[in-house]
Amino acid sequence: MKFETKAIHVGEEPDFKEGASGDVVIPIHLSSTFARKRVEKPTQGYEYSRTGNPTRCALENRLAALEEATFGLAFASGMAAETTLALTLLKAGDHILAFDDLYGGTRRLFNRILQQSFKVEASYVDARDLEKVEESIRENTRLIWLESPTNPLMRLCDIEAISQIAKKFSILVVVDNTFMSPYFQKPLLLGAPIVVHSTTKYLNGHSDSVAGAIMLSDEMIYHRLKFNQNALGSILSPFDSFLVLRGIKTLAIRMREHERNAFRIADYLEGHPRVRKVYYPGLRSHSQHALAERQASGFGGMLSFEIDGGLEEAGRFLENLKIFALAESLGGVESLIEHPAKMTHASIPRETREQIGITDSLIRVSVGLENPDDLIGDLDHAFHTMT
Ligand SMILES: Cc1ncc(COP(=O)(O)O)c(C=O)c1O
Repeated sequence: MKFETKAIHVGEEPDFKEGASGDVVIPIHLSSTFARKRVEKPTQGYEYSRTGNPTRCALENRLAALEEATFGLAFASGMAAETTLALTLLKAGDHILAFDDLYGGTRRLFNRILQQSFKVEASYVDARDLEKVEESIRENTRLIWLESPTNPLMRLCDIEAISQIAKKFSILVVVDNTFMSPYFQKPLLLGAPIVVHSTTKYLNGHSDSVAGAIMLSDEMIYHRLKFNQNALGSILSPFDSFLVLRGIKTLAIRMREHERNAFRIADYLEGHPRVRKVYYPGLRSHSQHALAERQASGFGGMLSFEIDGGLEEAGRFLENLKIFALAESLGGVESLIEHPAKMTHASIPRETREQIGITDSLIRVSVGLENPDDLIGDLDHAFHTMT
């Protein structure tokens, strides 16, 4: 089955069993508990909704299929997925090595919770450089955590090469595949054993649900994660499971359009005199364009750029946009724009931010599905207000 077909059908196959109604769309099973006829036989395997719920199960099967994984798990948020993963795979004294350009909330989880309260060490490396990655591995390194492209600087790492390095040292690799979505990039096929998502973004795609996911094929780790998901209670609700199932049906078509619009915006920005630099892996000017072409089947809908000016000019530009919403998050049908240093990445100390390259003139864009002429008109108007 091809990607588009899986995205519509897996998990929602009509039920023709005696007494079933053959729904084309799975019902939202709101029941918190499930009655059984015999003490030792839960009905269809369901007993209590935290442990298992038919609507969530449908979503989990679809999520697995999209990433070419055997197992999928759906969580209350991307961070709930990350926390459950970290608490399952790490213990006090272990070390986690992460790409230094990372979603701010992931860094906060590592530094402020895992390091401070659970005595798990975390260190960061520029994962564009394979030698540096290998050199940064410690005796107690258990996990390598990657985003590609990164948030917000759109840097890439070679997932296949890093997975091979990790294998030599028996270290697990986790790839946060939120930015690309499984439509454009499949880390499991590149050798990474675990994928996480904030499905809040492209997978749901409509900015109306907060959710997360883990996809993997290792049965032993899956059972540990499933046990901990139930024990910690980090599950996704039936209604949100339904929303994500619905959103995924149009993932392929949305991703193609996000990318088409992103190319138009990137080209426009690259030619604008008030823009110093555009970071979009689809541009030939992107230093890792060749890796982007090799590793993924597309370049996605996210880009960032350096505006010609500092905090004040960036602020004036952002506050004068009318169609782009000045908001955190990404991956929805509506175009969103934000200032990483003051918004998504404000929890990172200024010094660290500057070391990585998140300056006060950096602006991140999630290109939506509006008509690109309207989007360019909106940007044009905001640039004019800067002068
Ligand atoms: C790349 C990435 N990973 C993880 C997360 C966390 O996901 P959530 O907000 O669904 O908890 C985000 C949120 O912005 C993100 O951008």
